[in-house]
Amino acid sequence: MGLFSLVEPGLQRVDALLTQTLRQGNALVAEVSDYLLLAGGKRLRPALVLLAGQFGHERGEDPEERLVTVATAVEMIHMATLVHDDIIDEASMRRGIPAVRTQFTNPVAVLAGDYLFANAFELFSRSHDMDIVALAARVVNVMCVGEIAQNLSQGKVASETDYWRRIEAKTGFFLESSCRLGAMASGADPEVREALTQYGHFIGLAYQVVDDLLDWLANPEKLGKAVGGDLAVGIYTLPIIYAREQKEYQAELDQYLLSDRVMEYMAEIKRLLDTSGALGYARRQAEEYVDQALHQASLLPNHPARAVLQELAEFILARDY
Ligand code: IPE
Ligand code: IPE
Ligand code: MG
Ligand code: MG
Repeated sequence: MGLFSLVEPGLQRVDALLTQTLRQGNALVAEVSDYLLLAGGKRLRPALVLLAGQFGHERGEDPEERLVTVATAVEMIHMATLVHDDIIDEASMRRGIPAVRTQFTNPVAVLAGDYLFANAFELFSRSHDMDIVALAARVVNVMCVGEIAQNLSQGKVASETDYWRRIEAKTGFFLESSCRLGAMASGADPEVREALTQYGHFIGLAYQVVDDLLDWLANPEKLGKAVGGDLAVGIYTLPIIYAREQKEYQAELDQYLLSDRVMEYMAEIKRLLDTSGALGYARRQAEEYVDQALHQASLLPNHPARAVLQELAEFILARDY
């Protein structure tokens, strides 16, 4: 992605380390790994690690080595969560090709996810920094709690407060920690580390709200995964929650949501989300979080990476699929 050209050499090293690490093991592991590597992905999280890492002072023999290792481990955690998430969400497409669970089987996908998690932590441990390893473990911990909460609330309309809590756990904390890990691995000053962490927090929330909107609005070919997937498994995201809070839309909406053939009413539900102003509301929330992220970025020292972080925040809103 042109947006990340500043850290492109680092991202290439991330890809090389991903390949080198995951291709070990037996023939099936190598086959699944090759399959995962082929699928690509936007590499948002490792890019955040590398970009945040530009603000540090560490000047060893190869200052990028530690950063690249942490960035690679972060992408491995992300890959593991996606492989597992597709089992939970019963999704068949991921990154433009059949999901691991579709291409192989659910048991293989469970094990492949575990394999990715284990490899990620092996890489984190190479940083020889227990704070880094502990934060990485916390990311997985928080995400699991969030996913379990979401799973338990399937088919139920949560409050908006619950929604924000859920996406903070699922995505906000991971993106904030990606920035923080980059700042930690590169020895950034505490106030810079805080601004980077807050920046990551706000883009994380905006990113998940937009992802939830795209689940209604995107073209699946371009998105690389199915749309309507949240509705299909009874995950009600911000637009539904907001629309249902308005009395004049609630009854009609519920009639569709409670139907056994809910997917046949996708167009009707989408129309209600539009006319109730719910899609616009969700969009405005994402815009507000992007504004807050931009404010945090403005607190960073003047560095080319700061401009990239600013562009990245705006790119989140420009994702039109
Ligand atoms: C997908 O993440 C899961 C969410 C948090 C929305 P990405 O949109 O970063 O997925 P890839 O890595 O590009 O496939
Ligand atoms: C984010 O949620 C995924 C994880 C935190 C694992 P989604 O379920 O919305 O992600 P997609 O839409 O499947 O990529
Ligand atoms: Mg999913
Ligand atoms: Mg989604």
